[in-house]
Amino acid sequence: MSEDRIIVEGGKALAGTVRVSGAKNSVLKLMAASLLASGTTTLSNTPRISDVLLMADVLRHLGANVSFDADTITIDTRTLDNYEAPYELVRKMRASTAVLGPLIVRFGEARVAMPGGCQIGSRQMDLHFSGLEAFGVEFENSHGFINARVSDVGLRGREVALGFPSVGATENLMVVAAAARGTTVIENAAREPEICDLARFLTAMGAHIQGQGSPVLTIEGTSSFSAVTGYETIGDRIEAGTFLVAGALGGGPVTVEGFNPEHLRVPLAKLEALGSQLATTEDSVTITHEGSFTPTDIQTLPYPGFPTDLQPQFMVLDALADGMCIITENIFENRFVFADELFRMGATIHIEGHHAIIEGIRRFSGAPVEASDLRAGAALVLAALNAEGSSTISEVRHIYRGYEDLTGKLQGLGASIH
Ligand code: EPZ
Repeated sequence: MSEDRIIVEGGKALAGTVRVSGAKNSVLKLMAASLLASGTTTLSNTPRISDVLLMADVLRHLGANVSFDADTITIDTRTLDNYEAPYELVRKMRASTAVLGPLIVRFGEARVAMPGGCQIGSRQMDLHFSGLEAFGVEFENSHGFINARVSDVGLRGREVALGFPSVGATENLMVVAAAARGTTVIENAAREPEICDLARFLTAMGAHIQGQGSPVLTIEGTSSFSAVTGYETIGDRIEAGTFLVAGALGGGPVTVEGFNPEHLRVPLAKLEALGSQLATTEDSVTITHEGSFTPTDIQTLPYPGFPTDLQPQFMVLDALADGMCIITENIFENRFVFADELFRMGATIHIEGHHAIIEGIRRFSGAPVEASDLRAGAALVLAALNAEGSSTISEVRHIYRGYEDLTGKLQGLGASIH
């Protein structure tokens, strides 16, 4: 699959309707959280992407049975008999660390390979460790593995404060707190919609969680969880934002449906600042764009601020704007590597640490480019939609991780892509 390339003939007008799949950054955590209960869980509206297939392999390695039928995943955890997530699986997908909390609850111990860094940053786990230690989890990390064990007194509810509202740390802490004896308060918790989706799923399993979506979570521990059937995953707001940028580039009107526009308030405001017209319903946004793009400064922040996962896609719009603007990346220390590939298509962007100083150009020129990570890869496809001539994007396995049938969905809008 890694030899696959995506070839785009730029300059086509785009119009029509596209439906997003379920949210990658929710479904991976719901799959992991299903380990808390012994039984059969079914999740619907799930995307068929390689990260979901990888998470299924992790769960199978732990002894669960996982099967797929259309957009539904069935997970039977009654045969769970292993609490080790091996390096060869975890190194392929950092999100495998989402099984850490559930395994600690289910087995009282867990052995998860350290995920290592990735293209966009070092991806530490110190906030996971310090938070879980407060609940009574003891860590002994050696030989590239996280070795976690619950102390003899068991998991106890605690008041913890996160130094940074880490999405992954909030999720692991929420899962362990749901099973810890007594009350837990998590201050400075992440507020992403995917956190709320996980809280809703855990509640359906029997957890008692309040405050999701706010910086303060209050959780009453419980001793037993039951498997949930027919749980519908939220739509993927990052995929939706990616298609809205395609609509702005291709003129539209493009309707993106199957997600909650409330989950994209800041990106929608930025699209309007860039000069697009938007019409919103409770599960769709229609975008139209005529004329040039207005230079618009963007800074990425934890939710509800502008999401780092849409930074490369919006850089494509700012790189075509009439004038100068600055994009500031506050979440990951190395998420501008994408700009190097955009240079090859003619962009004029100057990187100064966390700032990208952008001087807009009239149009990209088609070129062979290489995807470095999931969102940068999608952004290169977007740039190619605008470019004069043909572009070839290689290393597209990164794109398959988080986008179900990206080329098919863009063809449906009139793009010349395969
Ligand atoms: C999740 O990653 C998402 N991945 C990321 O999406 C997303 O960019 C990120 O949240 C921020 O929204 C999944 O949900 C699978 P973090 P996560 O913990 O949980 C630092 C995509 O393209 N940090 O909020 O790993 C960390 O290094 C992916 O779909 C610590 O320092 O994000 C980073 O700089 C990319 N110590 C920042 O916090 C810790 O213990 C944000 O990390 C944990 C994190």
